[in-house]
Amino acid sequence: MSEKDTSQRSGESSPGLSDVDFLLTPPRDPSWLIVEDGFTLVREHEIESIFAVANGYIGARAAVEEGSRLSQPGVFAAGVYIDDPNSLVGPALATLPDWSRLEIIVDGQRLSLESGRVLEHRRILDLRRGILWREWRQQDLCGRITRAVLLRLVSLSDRHALLQSAAVTAENYSGQIELVADAASFDRGNKRGRLTADSEATIITVLAGKTVVAMAAGAISRPNCELPRSFRKGSSVDRPEKHWSWEARLGETVHLHRPVAIYTSREAADPGVSAQRHVAYLQEQGMTALIAAHSAAWSRRWSAADLRIVGDSKADLALRFAAYHLIAAANPADEHVSIGARGLTGRAYQGHVFWDTEIYMLPFYLLTEPTAARALLMYRYHTLGAARRKAEAYGYRGALYAWESTDTGAEATPRAALAPDGRIVPILTGAQEHHISADIAYAVWQYWRATGDDGFMIDAGGDILIETARFWASRARMEPDGRAHIRAVIGPDEYHETVDDNAYTNIMARWNLDRAADAATRLARKRPAEWRRQAARLALDDDEPMTWRRIAAALVTGFHPATGLFEQFEGYFALDDVDVVSRREGSTPLDLYLGREKTRRSKAIKQADVVAICALLWDEWPRAVHAANFAYYEPRTAHGSSLSPAIHALVAARLDDGERALKYFRQSSEIDLADNMGNAAGGVHMGALAGLWQAAVFGMAGLRIREDGIALDPHLPPGWSEICFPALWRGRTARLTLEADPARIEVEVEGVGEMTIRVIDGPSCRARAGRCYVSSRQGARWGAWREACR
Ligand code: BGC
Repeated sequence: MSEKDTSQRSGESSPGLSDVDFLLTPPRDPSWLIVEDGFTLVREHEIESIFAVANGYIGARAAVEEGSRLSQPGVFAAGVYIDDPNSLVGPALATLPDWSRLEIIVDGQRLSLESGRVLEHRRILDLRRGILWREWRQQDLCGRITRAVLLRLVSLSDRHALLQSAAVTAENYSGQIELVADAASFDRGNKRGRLTADSEATIITVLAGKTVVAMAAGAISRPNCELPRSFRKGSSVDRPEKHWSWEARLGETVHLHRPVAIYTSREAADPGVSAQRHVAYLQEQGMTALIAAHSAAWSRRWSAADLRIVGDSKADLALRFAAYHLIAAANPADEHVSIGARGLTGRAYQGHVFWDTEIYMLPFYLLTEPTAARALLMYRYHTLGAARRKAEAYGYRGALYAWESTDTGAEATPRAALAPDGRIVPILTGAQEHHISADIAYAVWQYWRATGDDGFMIDAGGDILIETARFWASRARMEPDGRAHIRAVIGPDEYHETVDDNAYTNIMARWNLDRAADAATRLARKRPAEWRRQAARLALDDDEPMTWRRIAAALVTGFHPATGLFEQFEGYFALDDVDVVSRREGSTPLDLYLGREKTRRSKAIKQADVVAICALLWDEWPRAVHAANFAYYEPRTAHGSSLSPAIHALVAARLDDGERALKYFRQSSEIDLADNMGNAAGGVHMGALAGLWQAAVFGMAGLRIREDGIALDPHLPPGWSEICFPALWRGRTARLTLEADPARIEVEVEGVGEMTIRVIDGPSCRARAGRCYVSSRQGARWGAWREACR
């Protein structure tokens, strides 16, 4: 089908130009916008990450359409990795053809931000609708002024659909304007794919590792310009270009809309055919329908996730930015993929999946989109086989998950890295960072508690809990002191390798063993017949849970009763004290500044380790224990990982240290938005963004998920007069408003049935759906909940 045919059949004229114009107008409400004015070449890489658009299936960096000297476009498909056995970094997320590459050529001269004068240039990320806008006025070397408004989206309602729109105006001249769509920037950073093009059908097919990816692009123009005037195949099949040109009249604006469809062989038997059919369908539907459905999908997600801070607009926007990237990263419909440390926004960590997903990101989905949380856990279920093989390879039982995981679940951590001084240093995390197995078990339990989804536990979650418990039971060794020890591990603090009895690892392992035993008891009671089948499938005998409990009770935790401190690992307290605090402002990471050996011998910590256990298992110890550990470890933490500041914000808030909580909150919110770690170029930090959300919800609002509902423990930091957010619990949505002064909590429950809302150490109420309840603080105490009318 020729493009002319489809544009005529598209019905684009029927919705009325005004509808389209309305949908294509950049929004102006600053509380929903991330805006970058001007063009600073050296900031391009981080801007491309920050402004990326994604839908959990496809992600696209925000490189300028026509490219620049430093542009590094990146289009990624979840779960599509290239595994080159010769590569030092192991399997890597494949870089796909850049569907958004579009050049504007005015009377034969390519418009570029780097030649002539930039009169206006602005990039706008519309968080509310998940649309990337660009407004650009450029004066070329001949004085011609061209204005372009460009839009890009990756649909949230139809994950295979993408859209690019361009409105180009000849402001002060008449002349020939040509648009060239060219996916040739494909593979700039990654030479391992294969590109073929079918010129007639404008389909690009790539072989990325073992996956075939097909992209089909259509076009609708308004008013119709010559479509296409010419189609140059280029000198080889790897430069498929597409041209549109027209004689532009003074002041005239021409619109070009390019719907694009992507399919991969992961979900389609013939991705080329599926992509071609889908793009024809998109053309039929027209742009208005595509944008409207996409916007409606975003609006549904926001209604379950929008968190507002009154009194601190910076924090408010940072949290929206965080939620935007979290919503964009998940695909609840695909349980064979997870979310990498940088989502689908960049190449850092080769798209690998870490504990970041379960410990940092998962709670966001749990309370805003549980189907996405379930899909992420199912990915771990589907990769259980690989985890069993890893455990076996090291001589253990059960499941030891990969520290860095890709589509297969096999260990993907690079074995070595190049140090700044040119030396090759071994990377031991893949062999030693075992806490990941307990982290995944922890997430399974949280999901069960928040959703009550017994079916998931019977089909999958129980298997994960049991197999990880089995791993710990074989990993921990009873020693002559009568205690169980876990030796030679790396905890969250990666500055110290091959340590014994890391408190985080041991306490999480203990928790994993106990919860697996609890799950066995509960499932046997709640679902006896199915549980018998599950236990038989796992060859679990009745005595095994007893063994887990015994080992759990015998595990050393490093707790020193006299001080209330957990020793981060055996021998930690005897290490050298170094001044970490005054080095934190410097741009050189502490371990590089001190050198590997000195860091290893010091008490300097890369990231929250004991402090992370405080956050995860807060209710297991009295407040005084948390206070002692935070006071001890916080000044020794270098925050060399982006995951660290948000957890510190959370714990500081719970300890009522509002100033410090806010300081860490800001530090965390600036990791991407201000690139304060200098590495946002590799993609946004999904764990840090989710950590920011956790700091607000679990720290400032003090939310806990309970068996019967939710509990709150408000600690609003200075300046925050109100925090409002929805929280989903077992199919009900609690819309919460926590006010600072006078202190007051209001909750409205949506859905069906009831749930318990409680203030920690205060009153509780059974809140019924459709009703609204209020509790106010009177002096030091919270008053009884009363029903309030809306
Ligand atoms: C951190 C890990 C984290 C990884 C990916 C590392 O620098 O130490 O805890 O999982 O980055 O974000």
